[in-house]
Amino acid sequence: MTEESTRDGERSSRSRSDGGAFDPVIATDGGSPDEGVVRRDRFSGGPARSFLSSLAADERIFEADLEVDRAHVLMLAEQGIVDDETAGAILTALDAIEVDGHDGLPDGEDVHEAIETAVIERIGEDGGKMHTARSRNDEVATCIRYRLREDVLEAIESTLALRESLLEVAEEHEETIMPGYTHLQPAQPTTVAHWALSYEGAVRRDTARLLEAYDRVNESPLGGAAFAGTTFDIDRERTAELLGFEGVVENSMDASSSRDFLLETVQALSTHATTLSGLAEDVIIFANRGFVDLSDDYSSTSSIMPQKKNPDTLELVRAVAGDAAGAVQGLTTTLKGLPRAYNRDLQRATTHAWETVDAVTEASEVAAGAVATADWNEDVLAAEAGEGFSTATGVADLLAANGLPFRTAHEMVAVAAETGGDYDALAAAAEEVLEEPLESYVEPAAVEEALDPAESVASRNSQGGPAPDAVGDQLESAREALAEDETALTEADDVLENAHQQLRSEVNDYV
Ligand code: ARG
Repeated sequence: MTEESTRDGERSSRSRSDGGAFDPVIATDGGSPDEGVVRRDRFSGGPARSFLSSLAADERIFEADLEVDRAHVLMLAEQGIVDDETAGAILTALDAIEVDGHDGLPDGEDVHEAIETAVIERIGEDGGKMHTARSRNDEVATCIRYRLREDVLEAIESTLALRESLLEVAEEHEETIMPGYTHLQPAQPTTVAHWALSYEGAVRRDTARLLEAYDRVNESPLGGAAFAGTTFDIDRERTAELLGFEGVVENSMDASSSRDFLLETVQALSTHATTLSGLAEDVIIFANRGFVDLSDDYSSTSSIMPQKKNPDTLELVRAVAGDAAGAVQGLTTTLKGLPRAYNRDLQRATTHAWETVDAVTEASEVAAGAVATADWNEDVLAAEAGEGFSTATGVADLLAANGLPFRTAHEMVAVAAETGGDYDALAAAAEEVLEEPLESYVEPAAVEEALDPAESVASRNSQGGPAPDAVGDQLESAREALAEDETALTEADDVLENAHQQLRSEVNDYV
């Protein structure tokens, strides 16, 4: 995983301006010393400067850093640590820096340093007061959490869209019979609705895991400083509130150095990607068997074989699970054994999260679209549903319901399976295994019914089963759960939007 490739982070030429080669000693960080610009050339990284830099990858947290700076400066002013005039000047500079964008930043080891330098360039030495009572360690942790919240909400939204697609398929195909498989061998007939709901249930748990991860991302480390807090009388609850966090990570060493929130998020995303990969594989197999036609929008063709229509989008969805599992591994290995408190290894931990959240969210959106637009071929499905004596279990159940021990019934039906699995085969097997005519156990009409795939499905009405009534109940609880999760998402979105508006209006009192 490379730190330059992020979803909305175009590669900035800045940190690799030398094309990746080591840069000799840096003499300036963008301003002239007599304008009061802080010079950091004492420990600038020397030849390893570009190796040290996260500025390009930090484009992802450019906006987040500006918001974190604003909240921090407001709090410093409210606490009387910085005077209102200085706070106003810094806040005004931050607005101008936002307009210039990430690409307009001066050089710096990371976005935090570059923005601070830009503030100092604009308003002089007083700009350095912005960094009172904090460190880049709590700052970067806050920025990551701030940005990741939005990304996790977007990922959650993609899971909800997928659930909606699956529910629509289920609602449309409550009675569409299809073959069900175990070991990829025909097993028992089921319905398209029952299949779709099986994935809806799994994605519902994926949503729940992401919502839980969100709660732990949504805590503010700001004010933890380097790790040991600060001598200044700061108000951590206030900055948390201004940034829309649910609370603070209390212990300052924990706040500045922990990244378990990244790991939990990436793990939840990886689990979702694994669910998606199974769904994708099923649809790929169904397309192969002519059960389903993917829409052209989600298919691709061959550059040489004109007749081909390939399920490439779903193959890529399937592959994302590999990337996500790799990110869990990379992140875990990076974090494993790191001592307290901050270590620079953490810089390389962050990019695993950006890459994973982008890839998995996109895969989830694509899966939702592919499922929503696919056409199910009901005739092909019905014809296939009874193949391979898939109603055998139902026949054994029928015999067991009429007094035969299930194990004996299983044995008898297995014998019938060898010779074609139809009524005649069952009659012959009864004579052979039970030494009694089949009619002495069950009515012939009941056997014929059990052999019919649609009747077979209708008879499996246990809770969660494929019979239309049981599917109706599942649809109802799935709809309720989806509505609840949609409300949770809207509420979380609103908290963030309101905090953003509130922060803006408080800043406006100073600028
Ligand atoms: N850019 C760093 C990161 O992403 C944050 C800076 C902390 N640097 C330091 N030397 N303590 O983690």
